[in-house]
Amino acid sequence: MAKSVLVTRQPLGRALEIISADASVDLWGGDVSMPRAELLARVASVDGLYCMLNDRIDRELLAAAPQLRVVSTMAVGVDNIDLAVCTRRDVVVGHTPGVLTEATADLAVALLLATARRLGEGIEHVRSGRWGEFQPDLLLGRDVHSSVIGIVGPGRIGSAVARRAAGFGASILYTGPTAKPTLEQEFGAKRRDLSGLLSEADHVMLTAPLRPDTHHLIDASALRLMKSTATLINVARGPLVDTAALYEALRSGWIAAAGLDVTDPEPLPADHPLLGLPNCVVLPHLGSASVQTRTEMAEMAARNLVLGLNGEPMEACANPEVYA
Ligand code: DGY
Repeated sequence: MAKSVLVTRQPLGRALEIISADASVDLWGGDVSMPRAELLARVASVDGLYCMLNDRIDRELLAAAPQLRVVSTMAVGVDNIDLAVCTRRDVVVGHTPGVLTEATADLAVALLLATARRLGEGIEHVRSGRWGEFQPDLLLGRDVHSSVIGIVGPGRIGSAVARRAAGFGASILYTGPTAKPTLEQEFGAKRRDLSGLLSEADHVMLTAPLRPDTHHLIDASALRLMKSTATLINVARGPLVDTAALYEALRSGWIAAAGLDVTDPEPLPADHPLLGLPNCVVLPHLGSASVQTRTEMAEMAARNLVLGLNGEPMEACANPEVYA
């Protein structure tokens, strides 16, 4: 019998072709995320689900999808998916690590430079007609070159950020569950516990996955440990940071500035107080948003889906224990 797949967003590149060659496709054509009720209704009779990072794949969804065998998300992060429930139900989950590492690390460095060197304020200064004669103290930021850059979560993306940081002549600190001998040997990176990293770094880069143990990793007490001149950059997931505490830290000068590609809540409402702060640069989750990278992610997710439906090993599976 033909396999059937629900695709929750018009995918990029050849993704739809790849899936359609193997299965019949029900495509949500809307230009906003599929409403929850629609998702729950349309998942009822499908074998596979091709989803985005903002589709919640939880117990309720799995209960509504008795035939479901494969979930493939167009993202590396799987915090929107209840992996334990999927595994119990023998639903294999694919994701897209690797292909977005470099683009996300590029964006992390772009955001660091924009934040530390106050590019947003500079652009606004020019556009608003306030640019007058040269002022020696206009919009002074903080150096990125020769600084101390602390990486929280030195996985693929964190390591790619470290490689770029080394190019800036920065000293690199990292914190994570395991030692990273390659980072230490190649870039002289030094491992610290979180408190040590926060108190020593000029720029703190969050690249850790969102899990119960990283939720609100950066709370008020963590922010209090940082230098008052420090920058916090988050390209991982919004809930790593306690947003209310960050607002207070930026408003009261516990830290100098923050650059966020991800927020909690996400999207951040236009009237959110963080957006009124000049020392907070916010981007709309653009980490992997280059034509090449998003196309590769979309196509990899499509291949994962087809492989999963055919009972073959995926290029990247987030719950390989399902095969055990
Ligand atoms: C991911 O893949 O998890 C990113 O957040 C989007 O590129």
